[in-house]
Amino acid sequence: MRKIVMLNQKGGVGKTTSVVNIAAALAQDGAKVVAADFDPQAHLTIHLGIEPDKVEAGTYKVLTGASQFDDALIEARPNLFLLGANIHLVGAESELVSVVGREIIFREAIAKTKQNFDYLLIDCPPSLGLLTLNALAAAQEVIIPLQPHFLALQGLGKLLQTITLVSRRINPSLKVSGVLLCMFDSRTSLSEEIKSDINKFLDSARDSDCPWSNAQIIPTFVRRNIKLAEAPSYGKTIFEYEPSCHGAEDYRLIARHLNGKTIGNTG
Ligand SMILES: Nc1ncnc2c1ncn2[C@@H]1O[C@H](COP(=O)(O)OP(=O)(O)OP(=O)(O)O)[C@@H](O)[C@H]1O
Ligand SMILES: [Mg+2]
Repeated sequence: MRKIVMLNQKGGVGKTTSVVNIAAALAQDGAKVVAADFDPQAHLTIHLGIEPDKVEAGTYKVLTGASQFDDALIEARPNLFLLGANIHLVGAESELVSVVGREIIFREAIAKTKQNFDYLLIDCPPSLGLLTLNALAAAQEVIIPLQPHFLALQGLGKLLQTITLVSRRINPSLKVSGVLLCMFDSRTSLSEEIKSDINKFLDSARDSDCPWSNAQIIPTFVRRNIKLAEAPSYGKTIFEYEPSCHGAEDYRLIARHLNGKTIGNTG
């Protein structure tokens, strides 16, 4: 199973939109996919058309040991399984604070799966707390969605520092595989400037042993597209809501790009 975390502690950059639509595209292409909602806001769950109140087990019960991972999944679409968030997830971080090994609970839980999933995509909250640490401890890859505006790179240092610490202390196989440019507006030179700043930054780490030394900007950018902003309120993926719009086209290509390459160890 390839395990990917969508992470940026900055809010509103496109994490949830990307997880929903990449997961849906991969599932449509025949992969067996789990999308895990690690955000107490439950946007991923809602975006897939499932009410958080209807999530009985979900991420919360898996993290508190009250449910097995396989039992907590909801088949939201053919091939697409949701580990949902409900209101209880709000209290998970404080409830787990005194649990020994609290950062690796999720890793241990998914290791027990009896299913043959191809992908696990984790949607993180906009913070670097215990929920995010559990996601990072369990995964092999991080994709960082960025919205190319002038403060896009602010906060990136703290994010990369957290990833470095997790890779040193808990999960040596963790790598940043890509930066995903979301809400890209090719009409502004700013988007292009930010793209070139990120490329310079990534190139400067090429020969180092840091977890982002092989990271690339994902070659398809997600264009700003109003349909992507409308789809969540209907509980639909972009392929159900408007399958021929730019947003659907972009996410389809991004999923194919991810599917075409493997990074790190699989298992
Ligand atoms: N390419 C796009 N074009 C237009 N609107 C978009 C696009 N991508 C996302 N949006 C909208 O922007 C808002 C933020 O996106 P999203 O919820 O995916 O970000 P997020 O990083 O998950 O936010 P949070 O940090 O709050 O979890 C949402 O209203 C979403 O519908
Ligand atoms: Mg979100």
